[in-house]
Amino acid sequence: MAPMTRCFADDQKGVVGSDVVEYYRKRAADGIGLIITEGTVISPQGKGNPGIPGLYSLEHIAAWKKVTEAVHAEGGTIIAQIWHVGRLTHHELTGGLSPQAPSAMLQTLFFLKNHLLSGLSRGVKFIMKYPMIRIKMTSE
Ligand SMILES: Cc1cc2nc3c(=O)[nH]c(=O)nc-3n(C[C@H](O)[C@H](O)[C@H](O)COP(=O)(O)O)c2cc1C
Repeated sequence: MAPMTRCFADDQKGVVGSDVVEYYRKRAADGIGLIITEGTVISPQGKGNPGIPGLYSLEHIAAWKKVTEAVHAEGGTIIAQIWHVGRLTHHELTGGLSPQAPSAMLQTLFFLKNHLLSGLSRGVKFIMKYPMIRIKMTSE
């Protein structure tokens, strides 16, 4: 199964819940041999949409373990897709942290807060401008 962003994780913590366990378990039960997860971010600053799951804390790992166990129990195999959006995030998504990117590019697109990818029923609520960012330092 190709990786597909679902935005089902807890938006504040990026932790996946029982709905995500069930989502992947069902795919394995349907006979999918190899599942590549939705993009999972490797740091809070890697997140480019609301509801994106993380894979950088013990809590994230424990939550994903429930997914892998459920998939394995159905005879499936699962691998995590890791993700970092670089410049394409916004401090509203990162808990106030500055975006990190290799260069201080200005993103001229708009960030659609609560846009379609964050849940079809939610729709676009705010249109946010991306601010200019600082260059990522070697020490980071
Ligand atoms: C809703 C949705 C979410 C997606 N999320 C991801 C993703 O998180 N990571 C990724 O690499 N591709 C993502 N894709 C792209 C798909 O993995 C896939 O490459 C694309 O749908 C083309 O599939 P096809 O080659 O079977 O036509 C997403 C596609 C859709 C429709």
